[in-house]
Amino acid sequence: MPSVSHKGLSMPQSPIRKLVPFAENAKKKGVKVIHLNIGQPDIKTPQQALDAVKNTDIDVLEYSRTEGSEEFRKKIAGYYVKNNIPVEASDIIVTTGGSEALAFAMSTIADANDEIIIPEPFYANYNGFATACGVTVVPVVSKLEDNFALPPIEDFEKLITPRTKAILICNPGNPTGYLYSKEEIQKLAALVKKQNIFLIADEVYREFTYDNKAHTSILKEPGLDEHAIIIDSVSKRYSMCGARIGFLVSKNKEFIATALKFAQARLSPPTYAQIASEAALDTPDSYFKEVNTEYEARRNLLLSELEKIEGIKIARPQGAFYCIVELPIKDADHFAQWLLEEFRVDNETVMVAPAAGFYATEGLGSNQIRIAYVLDQDSLKRAVYILGEALKSYKG
Ligand SMILES: Cc1ncc(COP(=O)(O)O)c(C=O)c1O
Repeated sequence: MPSVSHKGLSMPQSPIRKLVPFAENAKKKGVKVIHLNIGQPDIKTPQQALDAVKNTDIDVLEYSRTEGSEEFRKKIAGYYVKNNIPVEASDIIVTTGGSEALAFAMSTIADANDEIIIPEPFYANYNGFATACGVTVVPVVSKLEDNFALPPIEDFEKLITPRTKAILICNPGNPTGYLYSKEEIQKLAALVKKQNIFLIADEVYREFTYDNKAHTSILKEPGLDEHAIIIDSVSKRYSMCGARIGFLVSKNKEFIATALKFAQARLSPPTYAQIASEAALDTPDSYFKEVNTEYEARRNLLLSELEKIEGIKIARPQGAFYCIVELPIKDADHFAQWLLEEFRVDNETVMVAPAAGFYATEGLGSNQIRIAYVLDQDSLKRAVYILGEALKSYKG
């Protein structure tokens, strides 16, 4: 039989999706599975985005411009300027989701065996993109006890080698919910300038910040224009995950020109999705206010319900819609599977994401789970109750 690539064999499985067959089995048996495992928002997509697609009268569904139309990119630039992030249309490439922006960024800056330093736990697909590009992920540990704040900058510095091309952060974080402060961003900015490497910030959750905390974009940092690369997406911002539109943003002209060649190889981003996304940019600020109020209320409810469970530790999230919880168990992978296969409260159970898959260091996070609070408050309360009951019964 012809063989597949070593690269393919070493592609990591998604820690979020690998439990799906067990959830499907439970559902087939009539069990209600409450999903705390996946970041699919239940918030309605802005109506004007949906209407824009319905109201098109396209006769030929042509390729669009590789980098997205001038008009669309000008509007995207307007969105950044409104957020005090100084960006022009020529600094933007429209991509097929933030996912493609990540793949382009890694391919553009790194050769095989080059290194990217990432605070762990991190969005698990960074591993997948790095493997596909032949890039080595070098983790730097952030701690639950500190709510996953930026590790000491010396910890990053120690890991820098001649092969280091970038530091990659997610702000606010998936899976941690941590929101980096201006001071933390400034420390990173100073380091990447000193070491002459890139700083990639995945800011797809930029709008989702709580406790009246402001988000600090890396492109607001003076003197970082040649170093800063932003990964962005409409997926979570407008609850449009299925549109598959993201943005790669940088003021480094050589970076954008090189990334454009990778974009040219895939021709263009999807047309209808760009139409929907362009219309979504007109979403009034009141939408974000409402959505944020709801997420903050969910976060507060989640934390107060979790605090009732004995023996667990919680990292307090201040952004995005995820939370890492340490459980009084040894193996969260086993626990998550057991929940789906064996544990029921009135024929209901919960699905959680074991956190080990968000760490690159073997053994870390094995007693932690990630909870996504993208459910209405009643379901969230019920789910945490079931989790608490499960921990009382679990003998793993
Ligand atoms: C941190 C982070 N970055 C990037 C993505 C990719 O998003 P998309 O490709 O849907 O834009 C996600 C999706 O969950 C994410 O959580």
